This record gives sequence, C-alpha cells and structure tokens, in this order.
Amino acid sequence: MNLAEPMGPVWRASSSGSGTNPGCRIMAVGSALPATRVTNSDLERFLDTSDDWIASRTGIRERRVAAPDETLVDLAARAARAALAAAGVEPSEVDTIICSSSSPDETFPSLACRLQAELGCPHGAAFDLQAACSGAIYGLALAQSLVQTGMSRRVLVVAAEIFSRLLDWSDRSTAVLFGDGAGAFLVGGPESTGSQIVAIDLGADGHGASALGTLELPIEHRPIEGGPEYTASPRALGRVVTMNGREVFRFSTKILEQVVLRLAEAAGVTSEQIATVVPHQANSRILATAAGRLHLPSERFMTNVDKTGNTSSASIPLALAEGAAGGGCADGDLVCLVAFGAGLTWGGLLLRWEGTAIGIDQGVVPR
Ligand code: ACO
Repeated sequence: MNLAEPMGPVWRASSSGSGTNPGCRIMAVGSALPATRVTNSDLERFLDTSDDWIASRTGIRERRVAAPDETLVDLAARAARAALAAAGVEPSEVDTIICSSSSPDETFPSLACRLQAELGCPHGAAFDLQAACSGAIYGLALAQSLVQTGMSRRVLVVAAEIFSRLLDWSDRSTAVLFGDGAGAFLVGGPESTGSQIVAIDLGADGHGASALGTLELPIEHRPIEGGPEYTASPRALGRVVTMNGREVFRFSTKILEQVVLRLAEAAGVTSEQIATVVPHQANSRILATAAGRLHLPSERFMTNVDKTGNTSSASIPLALAEGAAGGGCADGDLVCLVAFGAGLTWGGLLLRWEGTAIGIDQGVVPR
C-alpha cells in the first residue's frame, strides 16, 4: 500500500456543533458475546499451536464462539437491544438500520432487514455494508450523513460477526486469531444526548485486496476429526479466511498512525490531546507498534483482544463498551475510534465524549 497516494478529505463538524454541518451524537453503545469461551489451551488439543505462541504474537488468550444454533441476527439483536435499553430509546424510534458483517449466513436478505423485523423497528431503510473490519466506522459515517441531511432521525449501526464459521480450523495461522461477537451504536441528531462526532476519515486501497480475503474451504481440510462442534459448523457462504499476515501487519500499523494524525489535524489538536484511542482489536503487537509510532503510551489504547480475539467489525464497539463501562472515558475527552481491514479499508472517527450510554448484554459478561 502506498500511503503517499492522495487520500480523500477528512470530514469535520463545524466548531459550534450546529449550523449546516453539525456533529451528530453517539447516544449509546451496546455489546454482546456468545457464551462459549475457547482458550488457547483448548486450541492446543486439535491444532499444532501453543498458548505461549498465540499470546506472545497476538496478545490473545481466549475468544468466544457461537453455539451451532446461534445465528448472526440473534447476536446482533442482543447488542442492539443493549444499546437501545441503555439510551432509553424504543425500537419504534429507530428509522434506519445499517449492519456490517463479513460473516453473513446468507447473501440476501440483508442482516439489517432481519434485524429490523426482530427488533420491531419501523419500515425505514435497512441495509448491510461491506467494509470488513472497518464496517462499524463506515456505518457511523453513513449514519452521520443520513441524520445531518435529514434522511434519518435515529440510526442503529450494528456490527455482528461469527468468524468461527469463516475459519479453516486446521489452519493454525488464521484459526487462532478470530472470535465471535456483536456491537451496536445508536446515533441521533446534534440535539440528542451523547458524545459528539467531531471528525471522520474513511479510505480504501483496492490494490491491497489480495492481502486478506476468503477462499473455498480446501477439501482435504474438512472437518477436523474429533474436533469440537464449532469446527464442524457450515462455513459462512462456504468460504474461509486467507491472509498474508506480514503484509497486513505492515499496512495496519502504518494506517492506524496515519488516521489518528489526520483526524487530529482536522480537529485542530495534537495526537497527545487525544485521551483514548479505541483501535480495531486485531492483535496487541499491531497496537503496541502503532502506539510507539504515535509516541503515545500504550495505556491510552483501549484493548480487550486478550478476551475476545479479533471480532472484525464488532471489535471497536465491543472494546469501547467494555472500556467505557470500566470508567475509561470521561466527559470532555477526545476519543478516537480507528479501524483497518480487508479491502484494504480503513476508517477513523474522533468523538468528544459526553455521557454516551453503555449497554453490555448481561447474558454473558466478558471476564
Ligand atoms: N502456532 C504456532 N506456530 C505458528 C502459528 C500458530 N498458531 N501460526 C504460525 N506459526 C508458525 C509458522 O508456521 C512459522 O513457522 P516456520 O518459521 O517454521 O515456518 C512461524 O510460526 C512464524 O510464522 P509467521 O507467519 O512468520 O509469524 P509472524 O511472526 O509473522 O506472526 C501473525 C503471525 C501473528 C499473524 C503476524 O503476522 C501478525 O500479527 N499479522 C497481522 C495480521 C493480523 O493480526 N491479522 C488479523 C486479521 S486482519 C485484520 O483484522 C485487519
């Protein structure tokens, strides 16, 4: 990827927070995880790997996997309901639903349409977007535009992933990295309560598409003899993840730094003034390297990858919900969400934190 290539403009809210270019509000964030916890030691039973290798290279110690009868819409609905309940908003008040998933059960109808019916939302727009791990940020950017232009009043942005059904469980180079989960954002207009969206940066470099994608599950790899039931679930759309780990590592560390700097510049602040970075939870080495490049202490990077693995587009709302519930964001703080993923895509969003409601689905609480 050539970061010297021109990138699109960074969107920025008018400084008064009103007028023709106001920053919308993130009223609530919600999250949900499946109940089944799979530790690195569990993986050692059927993969030639070790807790030590996985933890030292990625920071991951365990991940959640969906039960065979658990669907993407179940997981998405749990996260969405948690966000709505936290904000005290009824499903009847949500007029647009945007969903992101790289692990859909079916090509169509969209997850968003299924979720609309499941929640009982009005018949406003409902659609899925595909930006891989950057999907939640792309969704928030669209929500901002829809609300600002008057096409929507309240938008649910829901990222849900069951990556356990997108893995070749006999491929140790990818199987150890991912996990399942869902996160949701509720976005309202500038008059709503919640954190203000201050700036947004989106981008993609299609030349990097081959670094991270899917391929048909190789015949010799199905299914694992005596493996746990999640390794035998039908694959999402019959395909599995393939990745050039080193190329993805190089891209991720560079783009994370660039996006934080671009957002800070657009908002007229320095990166040191950003109190908290909530990055896509790909792995802890990527985050530590990016923190070093930005000269920011790694404690400013919110992370829960040790407990969730990489949950693709769900990872940012999952990390934010857990971190903010633990007191990680104070009113007035600048909080920077940064994603990067297949495509290659990236996206960042700068928030002025102000009382965004947090809803963690209590069906399963992260340890
Ligand atoms: N357990 C034990 N050994 C393993 C495992 C495993 N799970 N996976 C690979 N190895 C072995 C390899 O076979 C290789 O062995 P060899 O030297 O005998 O050939 C050795 O470990 C080194 O393999 P590399 O692939 O070179 O390992 P590397 O140090 O690059 O680490 C990793 C791999 C962690 C994937 C790294 O490249 C990385 O962090 N990449 C970023 C990609 C990423 O995190 N992607 C997440 C999804 S993408 C996204 O969300 C945007």
